[in-house]
Amino acid sequence: MSGHFLANNSISLILRLLGLLLMIFPDFILNCAAMARVDVCETELTIPWAVNVVAPGLLAAAAASVNAAIVHISTDYVFDGEKRSPYTIKDEPRPISSYGRSKLAGEVAVMAANPNSYIVRVARLFGNSGNNFGSRIFHQLQQAIDNRSKIKVCRYPVSQATYLPDLVARCAKSWVRASLVFIT
Ligand SMILES: NC(=O)c1ccc[n+]([C@@H]2O[C@H](COP(=O)([O-])OP(=O)(O)OC[C@H]3O[C@@H](n4cnc5c(N)ncnc54)[C@H](OP(=O)(O)O)[C@@H]3O)[C@@H](O)[C@H]2O)c1
Repeated sequence: MSGHFLANNSISLILRLLGLLLMIFPDFILNCAAMARVDVCETELTIPWAVNVVAPGLLAAAAASVNAAIVHISTDYVFDGEKRSPYTIKDEPRPISSYGRSKLAGEVAVMAANPNSYIVRVARLFGNSGNNFGSRIFHQLQQAIDNRSKIKVCRYPVSQATYLPDLVARCAKSWVRASLVFIT
């Protein structure tokens, strides 16, 4: 019963998405949507898999049907973090978390569904507003200073942060001729 309901719901969502794409015929779709809460992904399987794997695959297929490219934002979590120098696209992914595994499966689903797909692996996004890696660290530091306490952080030896406006500009620059862009 619930499977039937889910299927009906998914089909109507896909039809709405296709209708939208057929109205605007974008040159490319930039997919930023994800279940990016690493802790939640460890305990909950269904929603992360639906959001990080199934939905990007469907979006990529919908994009292909209107000849649009898809740019899919992924993560450094597809790697195990053991390498002692910067990762390159030639490095073999080896995710060690549920989040990383779902993001890697999402990459595969996107590439399988649309030959015109681009996977952009970023790390530690930060920007000028909203709740992000940079603002969280500053907030925690401020609290630690105020309370004369310490902060707990992951023991990541090295990580290269990505400034969000740089990422968007870089993606858009790759499609200078693109007139219509659809951002999820
Ligand atoms: N943040 C980082 O440091 C970092 C590092 C590496 C890679 N990434 C990647 O960058 C991308 C963005 O991450 P983020 O940190 O900006 O995540 P975020 O702040 O949690 O944003 C995720 C977005 O996905 C949307 N979303 C989640 N579930 C959805 C659903 N079921 N249907 C529709 N929309 C849904 C959310 O919409 P609502 O706001 O409406 O919930 C939100 O806009 C992800 O692909 C992530 O894997 C992020």
